Amino acid sequence: MRVRTLAAAILVAAASAHVAAETPVERGRYLVNTILACGNCHTPKDAEGRPLEARELAGGGLSFDLPFFAGAASNITPDRETGIGSWTDEEIARAITQGLRPGHGRLPGTELAVVMWVNFYKALLPSDLAAVVAYLRSIPAVRNAVPQPVYRKPVRRETYPDAERGFTEADLRDPVRRGAYLATIGHCMECHTPTVQGRTLYGEALGKGGKAFLPSFVKGYPAGWQGSTSPNVTSHATAGLGGWTDTEIARAITRGVSRDGRALGPPMGYHWYAGLNAEDVAALVAWLRTVPARD
Ligand code: HEC
Ligand code: HEC
Repeated sequence: MRVRTLAAAILVAAASAHVAAETPVERGRYLVNTILACGNCHTPKDAEGRPLEARELAGGGLSFDLPFFAGAASNITPDRETGIGSWTDEEIARAITQGLRPGHGRLPGTELAVVMWVNFYKALLPSDLAAVVAYLRSIPAVRNAVPQPVYRKPVRRETYPDAERGFTEADLRDPVRRGAYLATIGHCMECHTPTVQGRTLYGEALGKGGKAFLPSFVKGYPAGWQGSTSPNVTSHATAGLGGWTDTEIARAITRGVSRDGRALGPPMGYHWYAGLNAEDVAALVAWLRTVPARD
């Protein structure tokens, strides 16, 4: 018993020492590989849909064929020719939060397609943005030239209210605000809110679900994937998550299991969310509970 208590105390001490000593690269690794799930698009996957670790962020994970854009997620490893190795930190940060490529290198000065969700990433706290950039610089360079994108219509980005309002470091200490921050940078509601005539109804139908994801538009998921429709994740007692326990909601997010035990499929990044720490999962659940009920 005594030994166990001591072992537990050492674990707690090690955990808090780790938090205190977290470097920007470590914080970036955590964000990129959990809530941001950059690899959900940028990392190629095996036949079962698991990310190929040796090709982390090497591009071509998902490719899109949409009315406004055809192209693949870019190689964002530090390879100088096929990746972003020749970009400065500021240039990488600008691509992530403003969607603009630098005036040199591949496709100079072009604007990134809407599927690169910079209208959500702009909410990243400055320290978190710097951490993400530091982490991207630290991963192995992989040589992989992705095909040139085709821009079929000018890029039109929608605004997401919480990203426009912005967040502060202090918000991270309040569970609901922390959850709102994570749900923003994780662009949960981009998928879980219906779109009508090209406009996503963040104001009137936040979290109501009903957005369809079709294999004809997105390539890179396991063969046989039939597509899916986003469910209602509002606090509605029957149509949404209102009747679920916290544990059931946490399990859906981090393990991809619905309330009735059904395995959930793409495009949600369960593989990545599996690595979220308990505090962040609890914050997401706390925030979901505040999303107004919609039927
Ligand atoms: C929903 C899919 C998706 C997610 C998630 C995503 N990206 Fe992208 N990203 C893309 C696509 C597609 C492009 C290429 C767009 C184009 O060619 O216009 C891109 C382009 C980029 C570029 C520009 C590189 C270049 O030369 O084209 C950077 C940098 C980047 N993403 C970083 C990130 C980071 C960091 C994350 C996580 C915070 C992330 N992306 C998450 C789809 C995604
Ligand atoms: C890329 C789109 C996408 C993103 C981003 C996304 N989801 Fe999902 N989510 C889905 C889809 C689609 C399903 C249902 C999949 C299925 O039915 O196989 C789902 C399922 C769920 C479920 C299970 C609900 C049920 O009724 O089974 C919860 C809870 C959930 N998402 C919450 C979140 C949260 C929280 C985030 C952000 C951290 C998030 N989602 C990000 C598309 C997305």
